[in-house]
Amino acid sequence: MSTFLFVTPTWDGQLWAGEMRKAAPAMNVRVWPEMGDPGTIDYVAAWLPPPDVVRSLANLKVIFSLGAGVDAILKDPTLPENVPIVRVNDPDLTMRMSEYVVLHVLMHHRQQRRLDENQRKGVWDSFPTHAASALRVGVMGLGVLGQDAAKKLALLGFKVAGWSRSPKTVEGVQCFSGAGGLDTFLARTDVLVSLLPATPETDGILNRGLIRKLARSGPFGAPVLINAGRGRQQVEDDILAALDVGELHAATLDVFRSEPLPATSPFWTHPKVTLTPHIAADSDPAVICEYVARQIADYEATGKLSNLVDRARGY
Ligand code: NAP
Ligand code: GLV
Repeated sequence: MSTFLFVTPTWDGQLWAGEMRKAAPAMNVRVWPEMGDPGTIDYVAAWLPPPDVVRSLANLKVIFSLGAGVDAILKDPTLPENVPIVRVNDPDLTMRMSEYVVLHVLMHHRQQRRLDENQRKGVWDSFPTHAASALRVGVMGLGVLGQDAAKKLALLGFKVAGWSRSPKTVEGVQCFSGAGGLDTFLARTDVLVSLLPATPETDGILNRGLIRKLARSGPFGAPVLINAGRGRQQVEDDILAALDVGELHAATLDVFRSEPLPATSPFWTHPKVTLTPHIAADSDPAVICEYVARQIADYEATGKLSNLVDRARGY
């Protein structure tokens, strides 16, 4: 019988363990800190593990991230070097993210915040609207999530482009890549969506310099920013300043440099900001445990794993 350990100090480990027992009834499931003999653990699922816990598991075969992002695991400087890390790539999570991106692109496109405000004030203002084809959306990160969101936006009629590290071909999406492709991508973008991972290279990428390179010829005269990637990508003072002087028309932010967002953050009350508490694509414990159980079954049958993390790239 294999033994599985959850190390999730900021999440309800017992809830996850319950779902794992349903997904893999033959598995011996434990929850840190009640982990028993560390040498008996075969698999670990971790999110913000305290240093040295994962390292102490001397016979560990695989480390699982319970989300698509792996920054919460790679943050542990004591992680054992030779154990593979698997992240989540599941249609449930991907669909949730695409719902979020489509919702917020449409919300800005159809000026829903302005309509809500008018309704509150009892104002009948049938201002002119524009077609989806008038709006150029640019998706930073053309991975599992970025590609799916980009394709769904293209189906709705938006002019969609994407930007990634390596060159891509995505039907209906104009693809740019690398440092050389960034400025051209930004110059044609009215609504910028970030679905990048948190890595040293993407740290602070959403800054004033980048915002100033976005298109200003779109229907709103200034660009819109939607970030559902990671908060570390944001230079938050730059975003606030850009909103205040009109360099940004509006922003939807799901992620922040500090989470939970401190009560003192100006984002809470900024009239041009729509914020959500890192829920763009929630990890559903039942779905993710089934995914992890399938990966373990495949691994035990064939020795193969999918959706492996490249530690050198950081995602
Ligand atoms: P993924 O499949 O690994 O895709 C990452 C994409 O980013 C790839 O296209 C990659 O380029 C690109 N990229 C990485 N570093 C880059 C750089 N320096 N310059 C340009 N492009 C770069 O990841 P995913 O599954 O789509 O998830 C993306 C991220 O979404 C996660 O890492 C996580 O941070 C975030 N997320 C947020 C939530 C939420 O609820 N807010 C939920 C899930 C995930 P290549 O294709 O060339 O490798
Ligand atoms: C959530 O943020 C994830 O990485 O899945």
